[in-house]
Amino acid sequence: MQHPGTRLYAPEAFFEQRRAFGADWQLARYTPSEALWTPAEVGMDRVLLSEGRAYPNVCTHRAATLLDAPSSTLRCPYHGRQFGPGGLLRVAPGCPAVPNGEDLEPLATHPLGPWTFVRSSGHRPFPQLSRWLDGIPLQTLRRDPTGDRVYTIKAHWALWVENYLEGLHVPFVHPGLRSALDLSAYRSEIDDRVVVQIGVARQAPYVPLPSGHPAGAQVGGLYLYIYPCTALNIYAWGVSVNAIEPVSATETRIHYQRWVWPGTPPEVQTAGAGGALEDVELEDDAIVERVARGVEQAAAHTGRLGSYVPGWEDGAQAFHQWMTEPKPTR
Ligand code: FES
Ligand SMILES: [Fe+2]
Repeated sequence: MQHPGTRLYAPEAFFEQRRAFGADWQLARYTPSEALWTPAEVGMDRVLLSEGRAYPNVCTHRAATLLDAPSSTLRCPYHGRQFGPGGLLRVAPGCPAVPNGEDLEPLATHPLGPWTFVRSSGHRPFPQLSRWLDGIPLQTLRRDPTGDRVYTIKAHWALWVENYLEGLHVPFVHPGLRSALDLSAYRSEIDDRVVVQIGVARQAPYVPLPSGHPAGAQVGGLYLYIYPCTALNIYAWGVSVNAIEPVSATETRIHYQRWVWPGTPPEVQTAGAGGALEDVELEDDAIVERVARGVEQAAAHTGRLGSYVPGWEDGAQAFHQWMTEPKPTR
């Protein structure tokens, strides 16, 4: 398949991409609270988590966003509508009676380890991940808030993702990572809307994978991408979560969360493929911004980009196929 070209990154395409995100599963980013309503971010969208369910954090009246902080009550700041448990509209100032059909509609949720994924529309099932994740003790992971980072880059979100999905650039862009990984053993596998990249380590520490795991035993980084906006990077010390927030056709924020297995020695947290994540991210961000500048120029002239490098860019190719599939209708 030929690369679809620069139209993927065009501002005109961005709104359609954003609309299509709703039909896919995205990670909810939030700080847990005991309150009945907890705001969370899902890609570009704001949601509310409540009693194991998710709702749009948007009023059904004139679409004001509702909550900025956890709360035991839910009252719209614009015209004072109040919603009760289950998203039921209870109070609607000015109306002779509470209007029907204007409750907050629950969104689909799916738990994975300590995380919650949300899907805003459609019926697409959660991707099959058990082949890769069974036997990995995700449930025991503990969030380390000191590992929270947000990187803002001047680039279309798909440029960040396609860079994430290929190992071909590693020897050129990441000198540190290159010495931690045996790139001759690099491989990627593609499932439906999932790309898994296997980073074989030159030496310990290794990811604690169960015996018989399809990635093998000497893995320094197991990189699991869930289309469109989530990456779970599994290292010897735990999981680095990347949640991609497409801000516009020319700006993207990457939210990092660090989840650690209790009892991991400090030296394991700074060694091997997962040891210098900030350096690696800044190296990636710099090259992706270079690409964004070049794509703008290419778009103005031919709009064409080169063919995929076999074996190395299979994940990026699959990603572009998913991006260019017919969009779900409203
Ligand atoms: S927008 Fe919420 S009450 Fe009007
Ligand atoms: Fe990279």
